[in-house]
Amino acid sequence: MNLYRIDKPFILVIFGASGDLAKLKLFPALYSLMEQHRFPKEFYIVGYARTQNTRENFQKEFKKSIESNSKVDQTLVKELTDHVHYFSGQYNKLENFKKFRAYLKELTGKTQITTLAYFSVPPIVFKDIIQNLGETKTSKDEDIRLILEKPFGEDTASAKELFHFVARYFEEENVYLLDHYLGKSAVQSLLHLRHSNRLLNLMMKGPEIANIQITAFEKVGVTARAGYFDQVGTIRDMIQSHLMQILALITMSIPITEDPASLHREKYSILSALKFIDSPKNIVMGQYASYTKEKDIPKNSHAETFAAMRLFIDRESWYKTPIYIRTGKKLHEKHTYIVVELKKFAFQPKDEEPNRLIFELQPNERINIRLVNKQGQTSRYQEITTSDSLACTGDDCLPEHGLLLLDVIRKRRLHFLSFPEIIATWQIIDHIVNFIKKNQIKPQKYQDFSEGPATQNNLTKIDGFKWFDIH
Ligand code: BG6
Repeated sequence: MNLYRIDKPFILVIFGASGDLAKLKLFPALYSLMEQHRFPKEFYIVGYARTQNTRENFQKEFKKSIESNSKVDQTLVKELTDHVHYFSGQYNKLENFKKFRAYLKELTGKTQITTLAYFSVPPIVFKDIIQNLGETKTSKDEDIRLILEKPFGEDTASAKELFHFVARYFEEENVYLLDHYLGKSAVQSLLHLRHSNRLLNLMMKGPEIANIQITAFEKVGVTARAGYFDQVGTIRDMIQSHLMQILALITMSIPITEDPASLHREKYSILSALKFIDSPKNIVMGQYASYTKEKDIPKNSHAETFAAMRLFIDRESWYKTPIYIRTGKKLHEKHTYIVVELKKFAFQPKDEEPNRLIFELQPNERINIRLVNKQGQTSRYQEITTSDSLACTGDDCLPEHGLLLLDVIRKRRLHFLSFPEIIATWQIIDHIVNFIKKNQIKPQKYQDFSEGPATQNNLTKIDGFKWFDIH
């Protein structure tokens, strides 16, 4: 297979290199790129963090996080680790950045080298880093590409402010807004499947669809990010970007080309048309029983760890098609899937199952079409299913962050977000969050590792539907 290989030297600076995201996702992704021989001879991975650390020690941590994630080839680990460096500094001190730039120049012996700046830091320090990086640019058009990972702000106003701030120092084309769900190969399949299959697209038209259900269940609790999570809750943490993106990919019109601007426009067109009808019936929130016993979580916290909502798309073609979304932590399973339920014929018996199109995104990655058939003379009508895998099986499969990093190097923006999409999703989320506050809707407790609050079933009942659970 002819794999794309990076042919020019580059530096990857990881801000927040001692944090969880870097260790759990980024370092293993770098190893996957190494395993596929994607790197050029000359490249530098430079960790930047506030923690005082030596290069040797950071290399050890880097190695450890790779080894704990997969079966690895020690020669490759060693080769990769040799490219790893470390610089400790504050994020808000220009002096530190000046020294850092001098350090990079000495390390590479170059003033002109593509630099990817990965923000693996809490959003609160985004601006400091942007400003200091901007102010220490060696020339106006130095090739620095920022990779900012969600969350982008915490509401519409702060997201706009962040984008205006970035624009003071960097051109939009050098800023990559990353939602790691768009790097999941099964999520990317939504686009490819819809683009290449007329059959699918005939079914996926608003007037044919009874309802759409998007589920993202997690088994994990708040993990080490308690402080951050408790401030935002799962609506802003999971729904605002990950689930809204999935919603857009499944309901948007299909752009003809793979031109990023066309895709961003179509997603925006859906996201900006989303509608939440103000009624307490349209939202359910929950909190897992042991949440307030978690480390760093206030005893009286009302942060939601589960949310389900009923939305509409304000378009003639989606008129009266409810879209149900639900997500939660500490639930019985890790499972992300989309169920598209088609309308039944008016003459079909009520108890007959509707046709369903199911996209399982993780941990299983497969598409499943459910039809109804009568097999034999005496048997009743029954459901038959056809299922196929969406899993990436070739030699070029990469984890989300590996794929997206490669895209940044290649300047491919298709699987990144655009400012307008992000603002549109914040606008609907702000609306919902304000509604919740105004009506003082509080999360209901649910048992750890259960299926979440039973009241989630009331949402679908409004329209006479049921959540379709996949086990
Ligand atoms: C992150 C959220 O963006 O996605 C976390 O901040 C969540 O709260 C995580 O656990 C889920 O990602 P994945 O890839 O495990 O589904």
